[in-house]
Amino acid sequence: MSLPAELLELAVATAREAGRMLVDKRPADGPDVVQTKSSPTDVVTQMDRAAEQLIIDRIRAARPDDAFLGEEGGTRAGGSGVRWVIDPIDGTVNYLYDLPDWAVSIAAEVDGRAVAGAVEMPRRGETFTAARGAGALLHTASGTRELHVNTGVPLDRALVATGFGYAAARRARQAEVLTGVLPHVRDIRRGGSCCVDLCSLAAGRLDAYYERGVQAWDIAAGALIVEEAGGRVEGLQGAAPGPDLTIAAAPDIFESLHTLLSPLNPHQD
Ligand code: IPD
Ligand code: CA
Ligand code: CA
Ligand code: CA
Repeated sequence: MSLPAELLELAVATAREAGRMLVDKRPADGPDVVQTKSSPTDVVTQMDRAAEQLIIDRIRAARPDDAFLGEEGGTRAGGSGVRWVIDPIDGTVNYLYDLPDWAVSIAAEVDGRAVAGAVEMPRRGETFTAARGAGALLHTASGTRELHVNTGVPLDRALVATGFGYAAARRARQAEVLTGVLPHVRDIRRGGSCCVDLCSLAAGRLDAYYERGVQAWDIAAGALIVEEAGGRVEGLQGAAPGPDLTIAAAPDIFESLHTLLSPLNPHQD
């Protein structure tokens, strides 16, 4: 088996185990908020921490020399050239409210480049996967299918997802950008999980996505899945996707959305 295929197998098994644990062990009256980050509404629950610990424990048991970057602090160096980028719950606020759209996101990088990604959505019964050069797949109880982004959709017919950072000042600015986008697209969706948005885009359930403020753990697996489904994921003017701005879409829609967003300066707070 090739290294990306091996890493993908481990990512999928681990994401599924973490997803099951998050469903089975979610307290009936909701998880506890154990920490806040950029604002009082930017929460961490005990389940975010438990899931990250489970993921790191499983991967370390199988591959003790790998490095980790985890949203909840599970970051460590390694000597193998492989780094795991982990978001144990992407969409913590959805998880807190028991809304179904949250996911476990695990990507494996080799020498800094994502080569395998798994996004597990237990409440949807869906697992999205991609290995670099081998396409993107959606696995459900009824089978597996290849994923392809929608192409040839004009921007004024495009369903566009976005998200908002938690800090109040940034939100006000994001609202301004949104007023510049909304009149020019079919509609906007704010689903509450960046990696669910990216997988939905890869599956043709959305036409485009943009967001300011996303981190490596939010996008590592989802961006690979979009690229392997034929999409493009970048920042403004060819910059790498990341906290400044991340735009994802089929190549033709990408260009139109980039042209709409650029003069709105979405990367400036
Ligand atoms: C958040 C989600 C959300 C996005 C935020 C992220 P978290 O991740 O992806 O959709 O808008 O920027 O922080 O905190 O739930 O893992
Ligand atoms: Ca978070
Ligand atoms: Ca996240
Ligand atoms: Ca998270």
